[in-house]
Amino acid sequence: MPSPLQIFSKKSRDASLSPIAMISLYDAPTAALCCDAGADALLVGDSMGNVILGYDNTVSVDIEAIAHHTGAVVRGVKSSSRPDVPVIADLPFGSYHGSESEIVANATKLLKAGAIALKLEGAGERALRAIDLLLEMGVPVMGHIGFTPQSVLKFQTTVQGKTAPDAKRLMNEALSLEKAGCFGVVLEAMAQEVAAQITNKVQMATIGIGAGSDCDGQVLVWHDLAGLLPGKPFRFVRQYAKGHQVLLEAARSYVNEVKSKEFPSLENAWNMTDEERRRWENEP
Ligand code: KIV
Repeated sequence: MPSPLQIFSKKSRDASLSPIAMISLYDAPTAALCCDAGADALLVGDSMGNVILGYDNTVSVDIEAIAHHTGAVVRGVKSSSRPDVPVIADLPFGSYHGSESEIVANATKLLKAGAIALKLEGAGERALRAIDLLLEMGVPVMGHIGFTPQSVLKFQTTVQGKTAPDAKRLMNEALSLEKAGCFGVVLEAMAQEVAAQITNKVQMATIGIGAGSDCDGQVLVWHDLAGLLPGKPFRFVRQYAKGHQVLLEAARSYVNEVKSKEFPSLENAWNMTDEERRRWENEP
């Protein structure tokens, strides 16, 4: 039986194959909808911190939150027309920096929730050590370089690889992740020339977000692509719907109709039969 992660293997992918479309999301109905729409892979990203949990950044997201939402996404995939779409879960901040037993326990929570691969940020010593350990456990790992939101408290720079030394650093990081055994890497917010060069050089799949069109695939956060969040989207986002506006109008209409007593109407209610009503009214 082919591995659900085969889609990420360049060797088994014909060069003419279309790019991988991955979506980062957090709940069952959205997961089912995105599978039905043809998404190749889903990510339960720690972006849930900013997007649905109301934090300022991803640092506050813990392993329990990711496990909880991974379970929901996996159930959504199973209920869809494409139950084999792979679900990758993010290892959140601090969950792969501690002792071996802590890393194993954290990874186990996400795998038991149904993830078939894990993603972690960075290519430093600790990230490489965690990748090694996860692979030894038999867990496929996806890397993530460029802008890494978990480092936001230390590094404020978003777009990376705009100078020759920085481009070289990113290339070296990608090569280290490939050597460590990652099956893919997210390239976030970097000059597109650098993402293109990395994609040419490595065998693992590159999944871009704000990294231009030459990656092996793209990832966007569901709430961004559906336009569910208020305000101006980031430059790397394309909104495919005006979700926020549509939902705001729906909520307003509901509130107005409750107040005007237009909702609920007869079609939203049930009635007793005349006979039962009479019987009830005549009860002593
Ligand atoms: O957390 C997330 O959703 C991500 C993607 C944006 C790559 O890491």
